Amino acid sequence: MRLKTMMTMFFKGQSTFAMKLMRTVNEFYRTCFVSTALSEGIYDILLNGPVGIEWLGAELGPGISREGLQAWLDLGVSLGELERGKQGYRIKGALSKRLARPENDPYRAFLEEIAINHYPYITQTPSMLKRKKRFEFDESPGELIARSSRVSEPFIMDVVEEAIPRSGPFRLLEVGCGSGIYIKRACERNSSLSAVGLELQPRVAELARKNIESWGLSGRALVETTDVRMYQGGPEFDLVTLHQNIYYFKVDERVELARYLIGFLKPGGRLLLTTACQGGSPAIQALNIWVSVTEGYGALPDPEELCEQLEEAGFSKVWSKRLIPFESFRAFIAEKPGVS
Ligand SMILES: C[S@@+](CC[C@H](N)C(=O)[O-])C[C@H]1O[C@@H](n2cnc3c(N)ncnc32)[C@H](O)[C@@H]1O
Repeated sequence: MRLKTMMTMFFKGQSTFAMKLMRTVNEFYRTCFVSTALSEGIYDILLNGPVGIEWLGAELGPGISREGLQAWLDLGVSLGELERGKQGYRIKGALSKRLARPENDPYRAFLEEIAINHYPYITQTPSMLKRKKRFEFDESPGELIARSSRVSEPFIMDVVEEAIPRSGPFRLLEVGCGSGIYIKRACERNSSLSAVGLELQPRVAELARKNIESWGLSGRALVETTDVRMYQGGPEFDLVTLHQNIYYFKVDERVELARYLIGFLKPGGRLLLTTACQGGSPAIQALNIWVSVTEGYGALPDPEELCEQLEEAGFSKVWSKRLIPFESFRAFIAEKPGVS
């Protein structure tokens, strides 16, 4: 490049603009690259040190194109996520190193959900809206979502513990139990607690059952594959919980749902609902797009409106609190009247 061209670009502010643009684009590439390296098992292979390209290719499957694989891996090198040395490729970037660890599975699933599931909703929503169309309900990412939902676990755990006494018989009904992780924590908190988990999606319910069994809780917790609106239970529960799924119900169906849930509670029993709400960060806004344009789902709740809906359904002492500082992620607690 000639000096004159460079100076012109600089004084027109184009070089700063181009650099900013490339930084943004690189973060997009990084998200796509790292999430794919995780979902395709490539980081699992690279986890224990440098691996030669021939070995890596053989691990991925017979007849893999060396040229294609090298081009793909070199994007990772260019992003600083991989390093290429004499012995082959190894994981270099701090983000990749953290995500490659199996204990960070919720964050791995979260990144994959953003790259694979949020992406089409962001890019296709305007054209769907122009054609007066909505996205179909899609069960395929159910297990991925059950895994990624666990990023909110530390915040939700606090309110789950607050809602459950440490001792004494206690019955919990968990609606949309996902992985079953909150049932586990509830059982750990109170050794006399027993629980029923309801899960709409058969594959997710199967995941929850396997987890419950592996945690040694099969005698205390049962998972039923059903839509909560089909569940036939009496007023036998001390606590009904809904974590991160109120938006699987349309806004105008939520009063009816809450009336239905009251029917499962003993007098004085409580509802604990945790959810992302309107007005959050970009990840929450992307979730809001998803649920607002998918058949059968509804927008993230407005906190005031949800409190009013719970009161309209017959709950008393309804209140809400923020669970994550500076984020619109809240708990809603409501009581079934009957005990003075
Ligand atoms: C985002 S996931 C959250 C899973 C779990 N509660 C958590 O926070 O980790 C929501 C779950 O609710 C389930 N669900 C949605 N609508 C339901 C319904 N009507 N009855 C039972 N489960 C439902 C979905 O299948 C999904 O697994």
